[in-house]
Amino acid sequence: MIEYDVVIVGGGLAGSRAAVEIARLDPSLSIAVVAKTHPIRSHSVAAQGGMAATLKNVDETDSWEAHAFDTVKGSDYLADQDAVAILTQEAPDVVIDLEHMGVLFSRLADGRIAQRAFGGHSHNRTCYAADKTGHAILHELVNNLRRYGVHIYDEWYVMRLILEEGQAKGLVMFRIRDGELAVVRAKAVMFATGGYGRVYNTTSNDYASTGDGLAMTAAAGLPLEDMEFVQFHPTGLYPAGVLISEAVRGEGAYLINSEGERFMQRYAPSRMELAPRDITSRSIAREIRAGRGIHLDGSAGGPFVHLDVRHLGRDKIMSRIPFAWEESHRLAGVDAVHEPIPVRPTVHYSMGGIPVNTEGQVRSSAEGLVAGFFAAGETACVSVHGANRLGSNSLLECVVYGRRTGAAIARYVQNRKLPDLNEQDYLEQAKQQIQALIDRPGQYRIAEIRQAFQDCMTEHCGVFRTEALMKEGLEQIKILQQQAEQVYLDDKGTLFNTELIEALELQSLLIVGEMILTGALNRQESRGAHAREDFPDRDDTNFLQHTLAYYSPAGIEIRYMPVNITMFQPQERKY
Ligand code: FUM
Repeated sequence: MIEYDVVIVGGGLAGSRAAVEIARLDPSLSIAVVAKTHPIRSHSVAAQGGMAATLKNVDETDSWEAHAFDTVKGSDYLADQDAVAILTQEAPDVVIDLEHMGVLFSRLADGRIAQRAFGGHSHNRTCYAADKTGHAILHELVNNLRRYGVHIYDEWYVMRLILEEGQAKGLVMFRIRDGELAVVRAKAVMFATGGYGRVYNTTSNDYASTGDGLAMTAAAGLPLEDMEFVQFHPTGLYPAGVLISEAVRGEGAYLINSEGERFMQRYAPSRMELAPRDITSRSIAREIRAGRGIHLDGSAGGPFVHLDVRHLGRDKIMSRIPFAWEESHRLAGVDAVHEPIPVRPTVHYSMGGIPVNTEGQVRSSAEGLVAGFFAAGETACVSVHGANRLGSNSLLECVVYGRRTGAAIARYVQNRKLPDLNEQDYLEQAKQQIQALIDRPGQYRIAEIRQAFQDCMTEHCGVFRTEALMKEGLEQIKILQQQAEQVYLDDKGTLFNTELIEALELQSLLIVGEMILTGALNRQESRGAHAREDFPDRDDTNFLQHTLAYYSPAGIEIRYMPVNITMFQPQERKY
């Protein structure tokens, strides 16, 4: 059996930052990072626009309190304010620490770290590396994993969290290269497995964002929090859905409808294109619904609006947002120096996730904690984003809460023994699970079920939701779950059997989709990114609380957890 003091699943920003912290605090601890891709290919690498922190390099009047207020207001008052205070107070320190690790942030003329505007932020506080910020940060963190001797298991797929008597004891994983199964036993297990964008048919997320960590946690009988809050990024490139960074609007781009109008004037006159994402995405969707979208031939009534950067000029475009230009050119054939970019909302981020306290320890209920189990980053819900995340707060969350969780783990494992567990039982069960998938005489292909599922989620739990739509969606998912029991695999081998991985990922997607839909159906109000056309108002009397959803194949049970309100009383949210 493989044994470590700490095993971390996920090699992106949160997982890598936690591993570095543990190694810094106690170099004697053995640490493994397990990831289904190479850590450098984690989805964090695709983060573009930046990371918020009140360095005050551009605006001396900024403060952590202002950052906290913007974050809480952006969250539609569902964020836990103690967690937000930590996030915003620790932000400047984690940015400077990253800089000391070697991260190449963009600079002001005087050499200090540059900061730009971002949606929902009242001051220019987003630090960035052009529009490739995740790339710049992740490379340094992964270099540091090597420096600190963290063992990396890349291209190992984790199949199961081992949880016995309320304690996380390890995990079961298999090597994608040759199908070798292994059990890892550890004093502490951390999930930093990212999001689930692939639950939907149009997303900015990579192919690996299938919500495996969420599904494994739910399958182990633990709750997931606030899963109904799905972030639609306003500017996905049409038709690919890949991200055109909010940095583009931060640098001054306009959103334009088929009538040539800057339509955000109608929806968020004080913030215009830099309104928070939930409002901007709904505004674009409303323009398209009202027939003021645009077709590829330029005529009205089409499926996208225009993001116009032409007035910024070539020099600014190529120095501040070169990747947005490159993507538009490569994937849509648009030269953004001379033409507007076609955009529409795309699924981008999960506000909900595995519930954790501010030390990153996983909750088993509103009051209880799971021994030895931690989580951070997008897969976790601490909850600093509540019902709607502000752009550039997610890289920040990964680094602040990755570091805090690492520190908490380093303390937790001191003077603890490795837990007892029966390796053979787990190996045998995993072997049987894989063999059953391979031996199935099924009639369905993975791709057809996955596509039908992604279309179902997109149609039935999108930007706008109703009870009738969501009930229909849940019925369809039940049928798709039965069909998924009858998928047929062409590849029966053990060498790089990516079809087998896709079959396992499909199981994750289906669990996560059902959790999202059930949470959304249950929440009879509109708050942040959750917009119910049948319940258009926020309802603080009944729903100013977190959803805790417990999965079982027989059905999902919904419970609640109070919101932590320490600084800002809920108000009407206007921009
Ligand atoms: O638009 C962006 O660059 C995304 C940033 C974020 O999600 O924080």
